[in-house]
Amino acid sequence: MVVLIHEGFEPFIKICERINCPKSYVGLVIRDLSQLSVMRIVNEGGIEFMGIKLLGKGQNGFVFKCLVGNSYYACKVRRFDSSRPSLANEGYYLGLANSVGVGPRLINYTSNVIVMELIEGVTFDTYINYASPNDVRLIIKDLLWQCRRLDRIGLAHNELSRSREHIIVSGNKAYIIDFESASVNSKVSNVSQLLNALIMGKGYVQNRVRSIMNIGNNLDDLRYAIKEYKVRRDDESFIEILKLLGLQ
Ligand SMILES: Nc1ncnc2c1ncn2[C@@H]1O[C@H](COP(=O)(O)OP(=O)(O)OP(=O)(O)O)[C@@H](O)[C@H]1O
Ligand SMILES: [Mg+2]
Repeated sequence: MVVLIHEGFEPFIKICERINCPKSYVGLVIRDLSQLSVMRIVNEGGIEFMGIKLLGKGQNGFVFKCLVGNSYYACKVRRFDSSRPSLANEGYYLGLANSVGVGPRLINYTSNVIVMELIEGVTFDTYINYASPNDVRLIIKDLLWQCRRLDRIGLAHNELSRSREHIIVSGNKAYIIDFESASVNSKVSNVSQLLNALIMGKGYVQNRVRSIMNIGNNLDDLRYAIKEYKVRRDDESFIEILKLLGLQ
């Protein structure tokens, strides 16, 4: 029986063998995967690491496609060399984000594994290369409202400065991922972080978004509106930003 369960987790176990994870860590992750009813880790995804295909790989986690019951999900497995001792905070904050319709749907989590909705899409920096101007406008409007809803409940993502990696676009829907650095009651505003990352800053993505949205180079009005919003944090000052962007 135990052997069968381990067979289902082969892609994870193989990576661990190849990068010399401690055995105790492998045991913990397998225990957590079983506890979360994960039946299989699937060798599929857009990236390849150590001969195994997976959905993503960061400093803190390996993200695998996985099977739970009859459906596929994404499983973020904490890396043994992660600076985070647990994924519990991330799981908790993702659940909180879900309560305002943000993020991949959380299924369940333990300290080493988060099971969530599988988002089949592309990161924002890829999306921006081929999307039509109208689609980009709709996605940015949707993202700004998601950020506004997070601001309303005081949940700061805190890593939206890396928006291009932390947004996955699937069809006409954008998903904010990776709530590992999130915090509550923070002064940080998601709306302003997102705008800084996608529009105000310097760089290829920002230039492209500005040109698609006809914003031009005079950003003073927008800068002022963002400042106002950061102070007031209300719907009115948020809508002022949407108006300036021609999204209202
Ligand atoms: N729910 C999901 N569905 C599909 N792919 C996902 C999902 N969550 C994460 N990924 C993929 O895995 C990658 C890494 O995820 P994530 O950013 O959460 O990991 P991380 O270890 O915290 O990364 P970093 O060190 O960059 O912060 C993402 O860029 C994305 O490509
Ligand atoms: Mg991360």
